[in-house]
Amino acid sequence: DQSALQAYRASVLHFHADPAHHADAYAWHEDGLLLVADGKVVAAGDYQKLSVQLRAELKSELKIQDYRGKIIMPGFIDTHLHYPQTDMIASPAPGLLPWLEKYTFPTERKFGNPAHAKDVATFFIDELLRCGTTTAMVYCTVNPVSVDAFFSASEARNLRMVTGKVLMDRNCPEFLQDTAEGGIRDSEELLKKWHKRGRQLYAITPRFAPTSSNAQLQLAGELAQAYPDAYLQTHAAENIDEVAWVKSLFPESRSYMDVYDKYGMLRPRSMYGHCVWLDNHDRQRMAETQSAIAICPTSNLFLGSGLFDFKGADAAAVPLSLATDVGGGTSFSMLQTMNEAYKVARMATTYLPAMRMFYLATLGGARSMQLEGTIGNFVAGAEADFIVLDPQATPLLARRSERTESLEELLFALALLGDDRAIAATYAAGKLVHSRA
Ligand code: GUN
Ligand code: FE
Repeated sequence: DQSALQAYRASVLHFHADPAHHADAYAWHEDGLLLVADGKVVAAGDYQKLSVQLRAELKSELKIQDYRGKIIMPGFIDTHLHYPQTDMIASPAPGLLPWLEKYTFPTERKFGNPAHAKDVATFFIDELLRCGTTTAMVYCTVNPVSVDAFFSASEARNLRMVTGKVLMDRNCPEFLQDTAEGGIRDSEELLKKWHKRGRQLYAITPRFAPTSSNAQLQLAGELAQAYPDAYLQTHAAENIDEVAWVKSLFPESRSYMDVYDKYGMLRPRSMYGHCVWLDNHDRQRMAETQSAIAICPTSNLFLGSGLFDFKGADAAAVPLSLATDVGGGTSFSMLQTMNEAYKVARMATTYLPAMRMFYLATLGGARSMQLEGTIGNFVAGAEADFIVLDPQATPLLARRSERTESLEELLFALALLGDDRAIAATYAAGKLVHSRA
């Protein structure tokens, strides 16, 4: 049905490869056109070429939304964050474990209340869309109602989101504890209810090794094997004290990552948050099994967890993606997350081009989730989740971007100086879901 055709004119940028490994990794159409129908991408290309073709094909005049001066790119993909932690973002504590005790657990306690869960999920999703994030891998709490609340809020706006019930049967307050069997039973029920319902995807979500018994990790690994097309997410090797704790809890394991490996949790569609304190053997196992890393720079700096080793991860070719880790992370903005990722890389003498950062925040995330072709770029048939970036969003950004001399410099200025204000509009499945104006 041609009448359903939507057209957007702007500069268009998207990726088909990792710029770290391919000279020709992206498509850039300075005067570009994005064509969408029925929530899917029809084509992305040069305005002149596509519009001539279209005029020949269409009987009626095509109405084009004019975003000239701005940049259309795929929506950002944030591969690790916690919606229940929205209300405690920017809570100070000397490190991860005291922060969990003092703020996180008491905050998560409130998510047994469906009305509260709905209220926070709605605000959280609004904030993601304001920041240009259209897909996220999200943690709920141990409460099954917190999962229903999130998926319902996502489904109501037809977003492609991944989430799951946190599994946690030890080393946490009693009010947040499940049991090995009970937690898995609830997870399987939620998985059957929500996985692949519309655009929703389920993730089996053990919080991290210290809060699950061996029995619970065993069952989580078995559940993951029973549902290979479901997701699995957890935290790994984030902080020195946490790594030492895991060593004392699992003395039989070679490393932190080896705990997960023993339980069959390294697999495609698994997403490991942080991974600051891995060794080369861990990285090699992740690459072999197509297990992905969610790099969380704002959180790792905020909690003093450490500096992610980009060189080590790239040497082993581990699938990489970028994540905010709200509320350990300090911003919902993937642009601000790029800003801090760049500086973390610099501290270890790695140079992270803007082109690579935008790749990691779009196609890199999609690939890490085995969703290339569905989200993350503008191949024909992909879901039309896209954002309109405004290089004139603030006086400083406008002044700086007018003086850039290459696309790389322009993207770099957007990554370092940009935030939610640089997102002029966000579209999900071809529908406008946020507009700054
Ligand atoms: N490790 C276990 N739980 C958490 C959490 O909620 N946030 C972070 N950053 N690390 C964790
Ligand atoms: Fe986290």
